[in-house]
Amino acid sequence: MPSAGSVVTLCCALSLILHIVHTDAKDLRDSCSTCRQITDNFSKGFDRTTKKNFGGGNTAWEERKLSKYETSEIRLVEILEGLCDSSNFECNHMVEEHEEEFETWWFKRKTKYPDLFKWFCIDTIQVCCPKGTFGPDCNACVGGSERPCHGNGACDGDGTRAGHGRCSCNRGYQGEFCLDCIDGYFNVERNDSFSLCAECHTSCKTCTGSTNQDCDQCKPGWEKDEAGACNDVDECSKESPPCKEDQYCQNTDGSYSCQACDKACSGCRGAGPSGCLACSDGYGEEEGTCTDINECEQPDQACPGENRECVNIKGSYTCICSSSFEEKDGVCVQTEEPASEESQEVLDSEPTESTMPKFPEEHEDL
Ligand SMILES: *[C@@H]1O[C@H](CO)[C@@H](O)[C@H](O)[C@H]1NC(C)=O
Ligand SMILES: *[C@@H]1O[C@H](CO)[C@@H](O)[C@H](O)[C@H]1NC(C)=O
Repeated sequence: MPSAGSVVTLCCALSLILHIVHTDAKDLRDSCSTCRQITDNFSKGFDRTTKKNFGGGNTAWEERKLSKYETSEIRLVEILEGLCDSSNFECNHMVEEHEEEFETWWFKRKTKYPDLFKWFCIDTIQVCCPKGTFGPDCNACVGGSERPCHGNGACDGDGTRAGHGRCSCNRGYQGEFCLDCIDGYFNVERNDSFSLCAECHTSCKTCTGSTNQDCDQCKPGWEKDEAGACNDVDECSKESPPCKEDQYCQNTDGSYSCQACDKACSGCRGAGPSGCLACSDGYGEEEGTCTDINECEQPDQACPGENRECVNIKGSYTCICSSSFEEKDGVCVQTEEPASEESQEVLDSEPTESTMPKFPEEHEDL
């Protein structure tokens, strides 16, 4: 059996260091969660060692031995050894530091205080508090320990020796007690200790019920009609439309958006080349749609001049010189290539007898 004294020297040096940091709120929370893991693992270890090494049909001798093992120091040590991962410093430190307390509980308190978490973590080493309480003295959370924050939020430090016990409310709730609804929510039910908030209709800024007729105030982009219901404002049908000239307006619930016109359009009321108000240069109307004009097929020659070709592009055209011609001073002239492969061959090869011009003397000789 490992004696409690053997770890004392190591533990006290460490605990001195840890003590300084332990006052930190995060460490107080961590200590409680470490302690909870330890006691959870203790139960697991306890279950794991139940009737260990003994099958069914035990002899009387085995039964006697078994009942001895059940409450034995050997079993306690086996459980303690399995409590922490070796790499978990916090866990190992806490177990080592409190070996004596585990022994006390195992031999003297287990029957009277079967809940190890409560006995060890809350009452003995005091790193945790009962549910619904917080802080050094385990005071009740705001809203009471039964239903902290009235069930609509989290109590700071709940169940630990840390925190200030105040509430951070769930979505939809506000106020110290999480009983009030935020803007955009309304009380479905409410009394001094209970509150249920639900979301308003999307058109309401504030409301008393769930429909667009229950709005106190409309959200921006919505306005009340004669019946008092909030309805979407159609920004697009207003006298001065909110979009630019090369855009069309799209109304949405509570708002609008501006979309770019198709490039075939000069001004538009909708998407695509069929939504044009007028056609852009280079486009002509064809069955209600602005279509590219093929300038190259017009009766008037688009690309005048010798050896020129017309190429149609969307919304326009371009003139290029025909192949093996190039642009020079505004006209297309024959390309002065560093000769094609064929003529290159001729130049490279040695002139032969037959292609050599004969000397005049030789002529006379003939
Ligand atoms: C609890 O025990 C299991 C198995 O023995 C182990 O994997 C786990 O890490 C232990 N928990 C801690 C906090 O060490
Ligand atoms: C408040 O309302 C809840 C839910 O309707 C109810 O259970 C509770 O008894 C009520 N409490 C009081 C004080 O009226």
